[in-house]
Amino acid sequence: MLLKTSLASLLLVSANFFTQTWACGHLPARADNGTDGGEVTYPYADPGDDLPSDPATTGYFINHLCINVRNATRTIDWYNKAFGLRLMFTMHVSEHFSISYMGHSHGGRNGTGHQTSEEINRQKNNIEGLIEILSLEYPGWDLPSGLRVPNTFSHIGMVVPNITDTQVRLEAMGANILKAAGETFTIEGPFADGSGFTQAGDAISQEEIDVIMKTLVPLNTPLMLVADPDGNVVEVQNQEGSAVI
Ligand SMILES: *[C@@H]1O[C@H](CO)[C@@H](O)[C@H](O)[C@H]1NC(C)=O
Ligand SMILES: *[C@@H]1O[C@H](CO)[C@@H](O)[C@H](O)[C@H]1NC(C)=O
Ligand SMILES: *[C@@H]1O[C@H](CO)[C@@H](O)[C@H](O)[C@H]1NC(C)=O
Ligand SMILES: *[C@@H]1O[C@H](CO)[C@@H](O)[C@H](O)[C@H]1NC(C)=O
Repeated sequence: MLLKTSLASLLLVSANFFTQTWACGHLPARADNGTDGGEVTYPYADPGDDLPSDPATTGYFINHLCINVRNATRTIDWYNKAFGLRLMFTMHVSEHFSISYMGHSHGGRNGTGHQTSEEINRQKNNIEGLIEILSLEYPGWDLPSGLRVPNTFSHIGMVVPNITDTQVRLEAMGANILKAAGETFTIEGPFADGSGFTQAGDAISQEEIDVIMKTLVPLNTPLMLVADPDGNVVEVQNQEGSAVI
């Protein structure tokens, strides 16, 4: 009896914890009346499942994402100054075409573990979170970013220990800050164009936009959004923040 009671209260505690965890992360579960044919209340989130992956994929990881840029020198300089990524190498494939890799290596927590670029390169295929930069440079090559033309690339997500400090640094270097941390998020202008909302026209009603903004405003307001030299958006989140997208 005692055991049963303990088990029951343990389960209750776990259930509460689960609900609260979701609530803290701004991820409410689907409302009960949405599951029985009633009207669905947004937002809601479906949790992932706990199924293990195919053991054959053990050891797989995302090593890099790749952006096309107009001027590799400018991009490399910017990611280094803005976010501390270090140039690992640039392969000059031909007169007009180059491939570069950048990654974070601050030298550990306190700089004493400084690595040379040769040392970082030795680990190239063991590191996560690298950026590859492809540059084809010739006059007149137009390369519209996602801010101008909606495409499948949305943004790079960066986490920093103190978003206020980061913003001060980015302002000092004259970076194109699209939205400061704490500034109310709106979907007007480039965001609407880049994410397809402008083009959606009547397909997405104002009522639905209002529903979307009800979720996006509180989630995105704490974030900073900054454009790289080609107009790729870098989303900056505070390490301590609770934003989730
Ligand atoms: C059920 O749906 C109604 C109408 O959409 C809504 O007002 C209500 O809050 C919902 N109930 C729950 C528990 O979400
Ligand atoms: C590329 O960027 C660098 C650094 O910002 C600049 O000095 C150079 O003139 C640029 N090249 C072209 C072709 O615009
Ligand atoms: C820096 O970190 C290394 C390894 O994490 C540690 O051994 C060393 O004492 C630290 N040095 C300072 C000055 O904090
Ligand atoms: C961020 O740094 C500023 C000083 O630059 C400080 O006032 C603030 O408390 C820091 N915030 C956090 C969350 O550490």
